[in-house]
Amino acid sequence: MKYQAQSVHLKHPHECLIIGLFEDGQTAAFNKCDQLTEGYLTGLVKSGDISGKIGQLCLLHHVPQLDCKRLIIVGCGKQQELNERNYQKIYQRLWQTLKELPVSEAVSYLTDLQIKGRNLYWNVRFAIETLEHGNYQFDNFKQQKAPAIKLQKLLFSTDDTTAEQAIRHAQAIAHGIRATRDLANQPPNICNPAYLAEQAQALAAKSNKVSVEILDEAQMTELGMQAYLAVSRGATNPAYLSLIKFNNAPNPDAKPIVLVGKGLTFDAGGISLKPAADMDEMKYDMGGAASVFGTMTALIELDLPLNVIGVLAGCENLPDGNAYRPGDILTTMNGLTVEVLNTDAEGRLVLCDTLTYVERFAPQAVIDIATLTGACVVALGQHNSGLLSENDALATELAQAAAQSHDKAWRLPISDEYREQLKSPFADLANVGGRWGGASTAGAFLSHFTKAYPWAHLDIAGTAWLQGANKGATGRPVPLLVQYLINAAE
Ligand code: BES
Ligand code: MN
Ligand code: ZN
Repeated sequence: MKYQAQSVHLKHPHECLIIGLFEDGQTAAFNKCDQLTEGYLTGLVKSGDISGKIGQLCLLHHVPQLDCKRLIIVGCGKQQELNERNYQKIYQRLWQTLKELPVSEAVSYLTDLQIKGRNLYWNVRFAIETLEHGNYQFDNFKQQKAPAIKLQKLLFSTDDTTAEQAIRHAQAIAHGIRATRDLANQPPNICNPAYLAEQAQALAAKSNKVSVEILDEAQMTELGMQAYLAVSRGATNPAYLSLIKFNNAPNPDAKPIVLVGKGLTFDAGGISLKPAADMDEMKYDMGGAASVFGTMTALIELDLPLNVIGVLAGCENLPDGNAYRPGDILTTMNGLTVEVLNTDAEGRLVLCDTLTYVERFAPQAVIDIATLTGACVVALGQHNSGLLSENDALATELAQAAAQSHDKAWRLPISDEYREQLKSPFADLANVGGRWGGASTAGAFLSHFTKAYPWAHLDIAGTAWLQGANKGATGRPVPLLVQYLINAAE
């Protein structure tokens, strides 16, 4: 869909005009339309046909004295309660109607809505992100495809020039989210580590600022990545570590920001096999890698003046005669030995060697993104990603980006107490830390491998996908990560 910002006259013969109405007052556009129609709209309020209740929607045709063919009045709730979430609800409801109308162009006057603590830039940006989110369907494998949508263009009525920037940012983020959702929703018989590597190569082919490096198992063996390789041993599909390098800083040698994504294209748990119920959802255990891929997609489109390396740590965790076992002791790439107590705590084993590998880039910051622990979902539910870091400056920057982009994250601790839970009688570390504080002990495990640079960890086990009726990848935390990069470029 195309988006444009310009100041549009209400009397223009639009195909479809969209205005808002509060439960406890009128919006500027509602007021003007009411004047033009000599009280027709307030008449509808008086008769009780419209109330302004959030999400209520009224579609009118050929309203007298207005030259538009259709007028949509959408309820915006109480003025004081117009926060990000309610604003998204308004556009979600709008999309349900817009996608079914025989209209190719619509004009939104919801630009006059004041979201609490936000300016017009966010008004436009959240509108586009919400619409694009609704306008997504993964029907690659369905014979019956979703019907084509007529709407081609949405105009935001405003003369505020920050709207142009909002459109650019929102579209790039929406494209990144789409790339993430498409990749994560692929079934695991198609999306395996080699597929991740192919996607990385295809992305690089689109820009001369991007290069790709793929490490295969032979190279990983050479590097001593025994923890990573141990996880992969039960699988027939080989592991690949894919690096997408975007070089666009004014100083080509500027230290890169490195994003590391857990890319378990399927996690059956290995010998510590998971229960059968919902195991299909473990195709989403590459959600971290998918979000890195989507973030790189958006970054390339935005052409931010940064050096960024996106890493997809592709691997499968399956039980097999050759699989790694509970009790095995592995020597990681940085020399620390790990006693495996549970082969289902595989993400940290794949990540620890990847995090050691990226030391060679002398990063200014490393952020890993991983569907790492069920414990994080128990702690935060599906609303906040876990944010773990012992670097307060980096944690603050990420928390800010999360708040700005409304892609929420909540900080959880890492400290010596959690590191102590990882003691092993036989090795330097155990790969699990007992029953309590699982998100933090996982973070504590990773902290042993990230001493060479500022580091933060995002546990997206609860946020990367939804279950139930809306089952599917969410595209999170692409908004957070892209916002972090936008801020870093400023
Ligand atoms: N990929 C899972 C984490 C997960 C579980 C994400 C459920 C989303 C939903 C991870 O590899 C895992 O299995 N973690 C274990 C760790 C435990 C064995 C210490 C877990 O959380 O149960
Ligand atoms: Mn697991
Ligand atoms: Zn996993």
